[in-house]
Amino acid sequence: MTVESLSQAQAVDSSDNDSVLPEASDTFVTTPYVEEVTGRALAYLRAGYPVHLAGPSGTGKTTMAFHLAALWGRPVTLIHGNDEFSVSDLIGTNDAGYRRSKVVDNFIHSVVRTEEEMRQMWVDNRLTTACRNGDTLIYDEFNRSRPEANNVLLSVMSEGILNLPGLRTAGEGYLDVGGDFRAIFTSNPEEYAGTHKTQDALADRMITIRLDPPDRDTEIKIVKSKSGLDEIEAGHIVDIIRELRGTGENKTRPTLRAGIAMGKILSTVSGQARFGDRLFHHICYDILSTESAKVLHDGQSVFRQWVDDVIKQVCPPSGVQPADGSDSSKVLEKAQSFWHQS
Ligand SMILES: Nc1ncnc2c1ncn2[C@@H]1O[C@H](COP(=O)(O)OP(=O)(O)O)[C@@H](O)[C@H]1O
Ligand SMILES: [Mg+2]
Repeated sequence: MTVESLSQAQAVDSSDNDSVLPEASDTFVTTPYVEEVTGRALAYLRAGYPVHLAGPSGTGKTTMAFHLAALWGRPVTLIHGNDEFSVSDLIGTNDAGYRRSKVVDNFIHSVVRTEEEMRQMWVDNRLTTACRNGDTLIYDEFNRSRPEANNVLLSVMSEGILNLPGLRTAGEGYLDVGGDFRAIFTSNPEEYAGTHKTQDALADRMITIRLDPPDRDTEIKIVKSKSGLDEIEAGHIVDIIRELRGTGENKTRPTLRAGIAMGKILSTVSGQARFGDRLFHHICYDILSTESAKVLHDGQSVFRQWVDDVIKQVCPPSGVQPADGSDSSKVLEKAQSFWHQS
């Protein structure tokens, strides 16, 4: 399983199959920026600290968490923050369970014994399994869960003990956390809807690395890797995104995902990022639109006008081949008139 497909697996909320062994993805991009963050995070993990990747959406937090877990090399347990989680969703519960087990004797093949019992049974949930096995816990968007549920992590992170108040067997009310256990958290503090403020006590026990949109070089390499476009075309797309992100007008803050989507679509239609190319302009409107309904006097949308200006600023005009030696101002004129007619 690749890191990429692993990240898809978060959607499957099955507590039966708790851990997976991650592998590096071949579309994962490493640049000096990525290496620097990775190096720091691994140092914190090595020193025994939980790592917390915090930052706005689309800055590569989840991808980095999987990458770190893959480098760490232990089986991974995934939890995705959820407002409806209670403590028992994290640690487990006392269930009236029905257990059926089959005993197969390897030496006498005719021996197959089936045991059946009905009794109160403790069922581990993911956090308990991870602590018991010394796995790596990835708790993605942990601030979507309520602080009351996450409080159970406090003693895990400070004393290496997981309290299991519901577990009554043989005086076990707690579990010693395996020495290899590590936790990697992600959160998006800026996304207020559906999130809870990170508790200070919890934040104090992890080392927070703040992730912002990566540098231009990293962003271009990511768009290139995910879309198959060449570096020059990926560069145009990234420059449009970064220009829009930088001005912050209309609260437009397109993320890495927007650039990847533009790249994938352009690659699918074998298109190019050109000023005056109608299809390209429309792809940009559709992907970058923030539903700003503001319209100018002539009926033109403010947002579209603004996107057109940015495309004009960073992309070559439609019809221009970089090395054909043509008079680019003429071609630009042609492209503009084409654009305004259509
Ligand atoms: N180093 C990287 N290499 C390749 N793709 C990346 C890398 N970092 C981020 N991405 C891609 O960027 C997009 C956003 O990353 P993601 O980790 O989901 O962000 P976040 O969790 O911060 O919202 C995803 O499609 C992801 O595959
Ligand atoms: Mg994420």
